[in-house]
Amino acid sequence: MSNLIIKSAKNLKGKIRLPGDKSISHRAVMLGALARGETVIRNYLASADCLATIDCFRKLGVAINVTGSELRVMGKGLQGLRQAKEALDVGNSGTTIRLISGILAGQSFTTKITGDASIQRRPMGRIAKPLRLMNASIAGVERDGEIYAPLQIFGGNLEPISYELPVASAQVKSAVLLAGLFAGGETSVIEKNQSRDHTERMLEHFGATIRITNHESRITGQKEFAGAEVDVPGDISSAAFFIVAGLILPRAVITLREVGVNPTRTGIIDVLHRMGADLTVENERIISGEPRADLVVRSSELRAVKIDGEIIPRLIDELPIIAVAATQAAGTTEIRGAKELRVKESDRIKTIASELRKLGAKIEELDDGLKITGPTKLTGAKIESYGDHRIAMSAAIAGLIAEGGTHVADTACIETSFPGFEDILASLNK
Ligand code: S3P
Repeated sequence: MSNLIIKSAKNLKGKIRLPGDKSISHRAVMLGALARGETVIRNYLASADCLATIDCFRKLGVAINVTGSELRVMGKGLQGLRQAKEALDVGNSGTTIRLISGILAGQSFTTKITGDASIQRRPMGRIAKPLRLMNASIAGVERDGEIYAPLQIFGGNLEPISYELPVASAQVKSAVLLAGLFAGGETSVIEKNQSRDHTERMLEHFGATIRITNHESRITGQKEFAGAEVDVPGDISSAAFFIVAGLILPRAVITLREVGVNPTRTGIIDVLHRMGADLTVENERIISGEPRADLVVRSSELRAVKIDGEIIPRLIDELPIIAVAATQAAGTTEIRGAKELRVKESDRIKTIASELRKLGAKIEELDDGLKITGPTKLTGAKIESYGDHRIAMSAAIAGLIAEGGTHVADTACIETSFPGFEDILASLNK
């Protein structure tokens, strides 16, 4: 089991480039596999989660060549996938299992799909319900009114539906839209609070017929589309760790180049600005249908804020590292409406509260969020990751400002989203 030993840092300085966006990398492979002809993906995130997506499509008969961070996917067209000889294994990746289920629902063969222990604890009823409404047959482990992996999916002959999302979830929205590619007619998904829209943008980029109005995305089924070139921006969810590190360390200046700044993901920038962060967004431009920019962050005096409502889906994955920032902000930061954190790779409300408390943070667990009072001096301690990459990296960043050493146990999970995290940290900490 690998561990990270973090010593307190004086400052962090430098210019960095983040690995490719995880959500966009998954989608590029999926649409590349369903397109006709070759798709070239640059700056693909070669993390364990994304490699699981590649592995699943290879098992479904799609040839995918990897050269460094460039991928070539030989798309088979919408009707070209073939039955896998063995069960698909998504490892730790919730995005893989939920999105690919939408695609498998459109196939007239049966697929078994499973993942690691954490995946087998995460709710799948949220995708099974709309996909069953579309006519797919989905079996799983049924327990207390919920459905869990391993799943068995048999589809074909899908009916279009109009579906209002009961939870703000891009994974559920995407599963329905991807299934909609195989349904005759128009499938629509309506959401109250907008979740990340990478699937919609990627479908548009590939030339699929998708219409987007305020809170509704509509996809027309069974129209072939051709392969495309996709250049993946840096992952803002990975950038978030170094943005917060730059803010809370004295005398830090960090430039983060080519970070994805899709407005459905930039809740963290908005919240940090409200907290008083010296964080600038420069050189914004759109490549492959997604905006990217360079971010410059400098040490800042932070103040507490309230985080609630429509912004939550725009920063859901960043809440653990925002909690770290809040330990250094003057006043009480309150995060509400974030119950979804309880069904991520770990119960992140519980795990971030318990681990930051070990470092001396004043943090209270709420049913749907957290209450954090700062600023607090942190002291090094032994931290558990619970196999959750974002908890491991949040604890490592907190360790930079803690007095004495911080030992983060079980950090192999960082590979699921951010290979090279430790090297980038070392390159800034001179
Ligand atoms: C993701 C959507 C979010 C996010 C996850 C990636 C995606 O999950 O937490 O890390 O790529 O669609 P939910 O859709 O469950 O909110």
